[in-house]
Amino acid sequence: MSAKIIRGTEIREEILEELAREVENLKKRHGRPPGLVTILIGENPASVSYVKNKIRTAKRLGFKEVQENLTTTVAEKDLLDMIRRYNEDDTIDGILVQLPLPGHIDENRVLMAIDPDKDVDGFHPVNVGRLVIGGDAVKFPPCTPAGIVEMIIRAGVETRGAEVVVIGRSNIVGKPVACMMMQKGRGGNATVTVVHTGTKDLASHCLRADILIVAAGVPDLIKAEWIKPGACVIDVGVNRVGLMTDPKTGEEKALLRGDVDFEAASHVAGFLTPVPGGVGPMTITMLMKNTLASMKYRTEPRK
Ligand code: GUN
Repeated sequence: MSAKIIRGTEIREEILEELAREVENLKKRHGRPPGLVTILIGENPASVSYVKNKIRTAKRLGFKEVQENLTTTVAEKDLLDMIRRYNEDDTIDGILVQLPLPGHIDENRVLMAIDPDKDVDGFHPVNVGRLVIGGDAVKFPPCTPAGIVEMIIRAGVETRGAEVVVIGRSNIVGKPVACMMMQKGRGGNATVTVVHTGTKDLASHCLRADILIVAAGVPDLIKAEWIKPGACVIDVGVNRVGLMTDPKTGEEKALLRGDVDFEAASHVAGFLTPVPGGVGPMTITMLMKNTLASMKYRTEPRK
């Protein structure tokens, strides 16, 4: 078997074209584009790279894009004051604070300070609650899970009645993607199992999966023998395993590996996402979609 590779880079282009048309229409109706502020604290290389890509995509879509780069010594109070200022700013529809935060800052307090109606990451407890309720209650599905579900749908993989196994129980990926896929509706109606570091016999769970979503943060954790033939395997891992020279620019950059042994898995799986170029571009695309949706909710409230 040779897996069909689901490329986030290609699906991203389709969706960004759809979004660009919507941005133009919104600008005509309201005289301004969607506004996104990204707040980056410190110089964690992964965070710097993620934020750079988010900014690049926002600019490409013609969003108003505000960058706040703070030093790791920033006081929590100053960060909270900054968030509150953007909560009040009517030209800003989305506020994103890149995680992780330095140890002296309480992540919970920061996420709680963001207006839930500008929380385009979907991390505020109000938005977590909306996600759990499902259906029309959902405003901002968190970006990585939303990107995963969109890839599965656009690849034509049936989720209704499928056995989905999620590896990892983080608030950013594992818990929300499990919640989304068990809900009624598009990309849902699956039977979901969440496995984690406390699970006995990981391999036997993986082998049952029609759709295997791996967010473990362990390079090459998933071997070909753990994959049901024909399964759809979504690799969320972004592990920095070394450095490489970019053949296009000559610049040194991180060498990335996923959580799945890609080469071996490609002979067994029916569908497989690469790293890089799989889930990563989808996460950023969904952030743009949420920011645009936020402007619509705020300027054209549902009756
Ligand atoms: N850090 C890793 N992933 C994310 C994400 O999706 N959003 C934010 N804000 N921080 C992250």
